[in-house]
Amino acid sequence: MENKVFQLKGRDLLSLHDYKPEEVEAIINLAGELKEKQRQRESHTYLRGKTLGMIFQKSSTRTRVSFEVAMYQLGGYPMFLSASDLQLGRGESIADTARVLSRYLDGIMIRTFAQADVEELARYASIPVINGLTDLLHPCQVLADLLTIKEHKGTLGGLKLAYVGDGNNNICHSLLFGCAKVGMHISVASPDGYKPAAEIVRLARQDALQAGSKVVILTDPTEAVIEADVLVTDVWTSMGQETERAERLRVFPPYQINEKLAAMAKPDFIFLHCLPAHRGEEVTTEVIEGPHAAVWDEAENRLHAQKAVLALLL
Ligand code: CP
Ligand code: NVA
Repeated sequence: MENKVFQLKGRDLLSLHDYKPEEVEAIINLAGELKEKQRQRESHTYLRGKTLGMIFQKSSTRTRVSFEVAMYQLGGYPMFLSASDLQLGRGESIADTARVLSRYLDGIMIRTFAQADVEELARYASIPVINGLTDLLHPCQVLADLLTIKEHKGTLGGLKLAYVGDGNNNICHSLLFGCAKVGMHISVASPDGYKPAAEIVRLARQDALQAGSKVVILTDPTEAVIEADVLVTDVWTSMGQETERAERLRVFPPYQINEKLAAMAKPDFIFLHCLPAHRGEEVTTEVIEGPHAAVWDEAENRLHAQKAVLALLL
């Protein structure tokens, strides 16, 4: 690992917006190197003797397993902490939990509802805190997405990504931040009432201006998808929104990624989905199982991107 990457030691990862473009690039590059080391079965146990606590207040397949395997492969120890089993679930404050866990652990990964809770945890913890998904953001997912795009397209800057579906969720928000950081153009198409949060768009546009890329928020999916290099969608009903499911199923069908819509993208587009997917809702089986889908590489890259994050921050 080059020297400059150690500058991230001790940092939190709450939002990609907090990172400089060259820091995001360093994470993606290191992720690629660690992926290669893993393939070659070359030792990369940079975190021997280190422990990561992983607090989960929501379900997870990829995030839990990839973080756990990441720590193991880096020579460290991952500790799964279900929020309902912690005293946190019985009302102990986030601040007290943060201060106590900081005396045992070397880092905390947390998946929860409010971004403010992750920020509070980070404020009181003296060790790095990593956002493993909130209602607002999912930075680790987007690092894996950027790695996947780079692997498939050879570059990031100047590409166009189109996100179609629920614009007001963690994936869309983190894609806005991530694309703007690396100079990718991003077009989001979502129905009224489900557009990305105005403050996220404002911050992403600041970065996009620096990077010379565009952030476009639309209602028409076709307009968003035209000439796109990358198509992305996510579930219409995120975790915690289950009571809104019927209404969302009524609103979102025009935003399905199907072969007709995908035909508007570049002929060599790739399709990404963070998973879990609902075939027949946000994406058809033909697209997610088709030749353009890179979703299994994307899921695998969670492991490599997070190994890079852990190695750099811890
Ligand atoms: N993409 C993602 O975060 O998946 P999990 O909810 O399974 O962790
Ligand atoms: N937007 C989805 C992402 C799941 C990884 C959710 O929050 O449920």
